[in-house]
Amino acid sequence: MTDASALIERYGHFVNPGLARALRFMGMEAVEKTGHGAVLVTEDGDEYLDCAGGYGVFVQGYQHPRIVAKAHAQLDTMALSSHVLLNRPMIDLAEELARLTPGDLQYSFFCNSGTEAVEAALKFARIQTGRSRIIATEGAFHGKSMGALSVSGREIYQKPFSPLVPDIVHVAYGDAQQIAEVIDDRTAAVIVEPIQGEGGVVIPPDDYLPRIRELCDTYGALWIADEVQTGIGRTGRMFAVEHAGVIPDFLCLAKALGGGVVPIGAVVARAEAWTFFDSAPLIHTSTFGGNPLACAIAQEALRVTAEERLPERAANLGSYFLQSLADLQRQFPEVITAVRGRGLMIGVEVPGAGVGGAIISELFSRHVLAVYTLNNEKVIRLIPPLVITPAEIDQVLVAFRESLGVIRPMVNDLLEG
Ligand SMILES: Cc1ncc(COP(=O)(O)O)c(C=O)c1O
Repeated sequence: MTDASALIERYGHFVNPGLARALRFMGMEAVEKTGHGAVLVTEDGDEYLDCAGGYGVFVQGYQHPRIVAKAHAQLDTMALSSHVLLNRPMIDLAEELARLTPGDLQYSFFCNSGTEAVEAALKFARIQTGRSRIIATEGAFHGKSMGALSVSGREIYQKPFSPLVPDIVHVAYGDAQQIAEVIDDRTAAVIVEPIQGEGGVVIPPDDYLPRIRELCDTYGALWIADEVQTGIGRTGRMFAVEHAGVIPDFLCLAKALGGGVVPIGAVVARAEAWTFFDSAPLIHTSTFGGNPLACAIAQEALRVTAEERLPERAANLGSYFLQSLADLQRQFPEVITAVRGRGLMIGVEVPGAGVGGAIISELFSRHVLAVYTLNNEKVIRLIPPLVITPAEIDQVLVAFRESLGVIRPMVNDLLEG
């Protein structure tokens, strides 16, 4: 038996005391070792069905054999770039992204995480327009580096670090009229997620993104679509902006682009938003960004996503999962107040954070992993790998039904507590 308790102790001592306490409180004492498909395997050989999906990283599943094989092959050849000679995997990946992304998105900048992709897009929008104002949305999550944090929409993560990056205006998410009221010829960019992930899986009205596109065009501002969580098949299309049929100026990617094997982030842009690089080619760079290892793996991740038709799979399985959860909501209306989602990006809303925590704990004891959304603790987010099978979704539903049965009599106490 692994001594998970001793490992938590060391985690608390050497990494993060607060999180170690929370894990112990939730009874989440298990040590990850490996995984396959939608299943995470512990050092003790226990298996968990993962609906947290590494916060969106494991679209193609854990340790996808083709992606792992590609990683080994590239590692044997060249992992990091000289940054002096030409880097073929990086250029190949950029060309592939230009082909796969909608419309005339063409150029790519590569980095190592979602927050770096957002950081880069904000800088690109400012230099390209020569303006500084950024319009962002309440409840948004764009990352935790200074610029990305400044355009995020949750005070508890922002306040301790103020003053943040200046000239950022926040408006309510999903209401294009509010953007219309603040956008003008000082606006460099509007940044939005096509679906707010950490905000609680919030789906905007159908005309929201088209209206943002129109407003940006009218005022010469640039639209940054943050698809760090929604991108690479999650919502039932390769990119979530495709549901609305509109093309952003900058598309931010990370998470699943790395195939569940390696960190990588990217900003993909239209040619008109990229002219600043002509005269300032070194204005924004990253030593590790675009490394051959990550880029070769990302290409394989994109191929696997397309060839295994994972976006279609997300659409089909997602609608089954969503309907089944809606049935559970009808059976347990005191515990589930709303269910919403698109593809395999699903949010289950409960009446309070304590109720959500208790459900997550119950699910864990039934070997199902789920987490709440970072900016809205009342929403349990279900973002499993898209390779999850229908039988595994049924297993998750059984675990949910049992957990809801346990929690129902405790709801009032949990809300008061
Ligand atoms: C929409 C969105 N943008 C940016 C980020 C930040 O990504 P990272 O944690 O890789 O910096 C996240 C992370 O959850 C995200 O969901």
